[in-house]
Amino acid sequence: MEITFEELLNKAKEVSKNSYSPYSKFKVGAAVLYESNKIYCGVNVENVSYGITLCAERTAISSAIAQGEKTKIKAIAVYSPNQKNCLPCGACRQWLAEFAPDDTSKLRVVLEGCKGEAVDWGLDEIFPDSFKFTYCEPN
Ligand code: THU
Repeated sequence: MEITFEELLNKAKEVSKNSYSPYSKFKVGAAVLYESNKIYCGVNVENVSYGITLCAERTAISSAIAQGEKTKIKAIAVYSPNQKNCLPCGACRQWLAEFAPDDTSKLRVVLEGCKGEAVDWGLDEIFPDSFKFTYCEPN
């Protein structure tokens, strides 16, 4: 049976406890569901050199790639105990686009709504036009 969005959000909630965020104190957990039906989790990993911090979404996707995942992303749940509706930052949206199905509305971004419920958005809604690398020889 397929995992529900509520269950995926619970995985993000559980893993957010492992966040390494001593500087911002803003914990984030992410759980990514692939077409293979495998789930990979990640947390934000901060650094004393603030700008090289990694977001939870990208550590989750990196973990999937390192473990050999080859399918597309079906859904990602993002959770922070410090903020409801914790939407992915712009850089993470571009990362999601890299591994999204051709129809990006099929990639669902699942968040905790104001009342604790699971709310989902299509990647197409929150990142309508990603950067694409189409190289042309200069004239
Ligand atoms: N953060 C994420 O993990 N994901 C996002 O999409 C945005 C921000 C983290 C980075 C930093 O550790 C903390 O949240 C505050 O910006």
